[in-house]
Amino acid sequence: MDTLTLIRPDDWHLHLRDDDALRAVVGASARQFARAIVMPNLKPPVTTVAHAQAYRARILDALAPAVAADPLCAGFEPLMTLYLTDRTAPDEIKRARDSGFVHAVKLYPAGATTNSDAGVTSIAAVRPALEAMQASGLPLLIHGEVTDAHIDVFDREAVFIETVLEPMRRDFPDLRIVFEHITTKEAAQYVAQASGPIAATITAHHLLYERNALFKGGMRPHWYCLPILKRETHRRALLEAATSGSPRFFLGTDSAPHAKDLKEHACGCAGCYTAPHALELYAAAFESVGRLDRLEGFASLHGPDFYRLPRNTSRVTLRRQSWTVPDSLPFGAERIVPLASGEALAWRLSS
Ligand code: NCD
Ligand code: ZN
Repeated sequence: MDTLTLIRPDDWHLHLRDDDALRAVVGASARQFARAIVMPNLKPPVTTVAHAQAYRARILDALAPAVAADPLCAGFEPLMTLYLTDRTAPDEIKRARDSGFVHAVKLYPAGATTNSDAGVTSIAAVRPALEAMQASGLPLLIHGEVTDAHIDVFDREAVFIETVLEPMRRDFPDLRIVFEHITTKEAAQYVAQASGPIAATITAHHLLYERNALFKGGMRPHWYCLPILKRETHRRALLEAATSGSPRFFLGTDSAPHAKDLKEHACGCAGCYTAPHALELYAAAFESVGRLDRLEGFASLHGPDFYRLPRNTSRVTLRRQSWTVPDSLPFGAERIVPLASGEALAWRLSS
C-alpha cells in the first residue's frame, strides 16, 4: 500500500500560543487538520468567553498568510476552550455553552505543567462550575496528574486516577470528560473499561517512544514533555488502545511549541513540537503494529463523535515517501526543533 486516504482529521489537543509563535506554527496544524481544540494556557490564561473570542480572532488573523502560501491550510477552524480556575462562575460555563465557539473547559491541577499556576487547587473548589458543565454537556478536558512533589513524576498519572478522577466521576457521573494525553496502561484500561461519558486523547510521541528516548546517547530535551514518557509496557498499552477501534480513544497531538533555546536549557521547557508532521508520526505508530486501517477512526471519526460535532467530509492523502524531518524551523525571531528532527519518516502528507 503506497497511499493512504483519510477523512480529514482533527487535532483534539493543541497548543497554538500567541503573537509571533502563533504566526509561526498555526499553518502547520491547518495543513494537516480541519479543526483543533486549542489549549487555553496562555499567559495570562484564557479564562472567559470574551478572552476566547479575542484569541480565536487572533488565530484566524495569523492563519491568513498561511492560507495565502498554501491552499491546504484553508478552512481551519479553531475550537476554543476555557481555562478552569477556582473562580470560574457557573454563568461563564453557560455563556461558553451558548457561544457556539467554546467547545470545552480545561482542568489543569495548579502547578502540573506549563502555565498552570492559575489552575485548580482542589475539585471541591470547582464544584459549581462542574455542576454547570454536567448540566449543559460541555466537556471537561483533564490534565490528569497529581502535583504532590512526594509522588514520583512517573507515577503521577496513575495516582491521579485513584485519588482525583475516580472520586470526581462518582460525584459527577454524567460529566463528559476527556482524559487528555494519556501515558499509562492504567489510564488506557481505566478509559476502555469505564461506563459513562469518558474518552481519552493520545499523542503520537507517547505511541512512538518510551522513556529511554529521553536519554539516548545523552540528554534529549526535545523528548521531554508532560506527562513524561513512560516505560515500554505503557507505550504498548497505549498503542493497543489507539488501534483497538474503540471510539473512546482519539487523536490529540499535544503539539507544544517552545523555542529551541528554551528547550536546550539548564531547566528546559516541557513540550514536543509535532504539528508539522503529526499525521506522518501517527501513521508510523499505526503501521508499526499493522493497523493503518484503524487510523481513520482514531484520527477523523471518534473525536467529532464524542464532541457531538459533524464529521469532516473532505479528505487528505498520505504517500509512502521517505523524507527527513528538518533540523529546525523558523519560530518568530528564533528557531524551533520539531520532534524527531533529522530522522527519516516513511509517510508524507501530499500537497
Ligand atoms: C504543554 C505546554 O507546553 O503548554 N507542555 C507539555 O509538555 N505537554 C502543557 C501541557 O499540555 O501539559
Ligand atoms: Zn497540552
